[in-house]
Amino acid sequence: MMNTVNYVKCFLRDKNVASITPTSPFGVKRVCKKIDFSKARLIVEYGPGTGVFSEFLLQNMHPAAHLVLIERNPDMFKCLKKSFPDERVHLFNDSAENIGELINGQWNNKPDYVISGIPFSYLPDNIRQNIVRQTHQALGDKGKFLAYQTFCQKDDHLLVHLEQFFRRVTSEFELLNIPPMRIYEAIK
Ligand SMILES: C[S@@+](CC[C@H](N)C(=O)[O-])C[C@H]1O[C@@H](n2cnc3c(N)ncnc32)[C@H](O)[C@@H]1O
Repeated sequence: MMNTVNYVKCFLRDKNVASITPTSPFGVKRVCKKIDFSKARLIVEYGPGTGVFSEFLLQNMHPAAHLVLIERNPDMFKCLKKSFPDERVHLFNDSAENIGELINGQWNNKPDYVISGIPFSYLPDNIRQNIVRQTHQALGDKGKFLAYQTFCQKDDHLLVHLEQFFRRVTSEFELLNIPPMRIYEAIK
């Protein structure tokens, strides 16, 4: 995985990297507790960064399941490519809002879960809404969108958009992370 110096360089060059440290193991487990790994066959991750979630997902996923990683930063993308030679991984150097065209027709089933670490607060409102709309459209029936953000997120940044498209939305906090996280679970 990417070392700390290179991670900090990415953070300094690209404001969309947004967080000075990768998510803690507590944060990763807290989000991934919401996944039923015995049933999931297609999982999508937006903004995997150094791959802390990707690694946990691959360790716990069914051998026949696939993991689609969509990472916009080219340096992070190159490192992910080296770190995860696993044939279940499908990597795209692209932006989350293109999920529909990226996965279209490639798998028999729609994603069971989309996990997102992208910083919604940094995005213009129309892009936030578009990402949530595209994600809802791409997910399978009863699929879940699991998005984590820093704890100080305003409801306008993400919650209002999730509530506009998803049937059920809840949020909770994980304090054992720097900074503490707000985790959203949105069910289609
Ligand atoms: C806060 S970091 C999270 C990294 C990692 N998931 C973690 O939990 O440590 C945000 C990541 O999202 C990526 N990113 C930002 N906007 C994106 C977008 N629109 N589509 C895909 N990736 C994006 C950044 O390059 C960065 O890797």
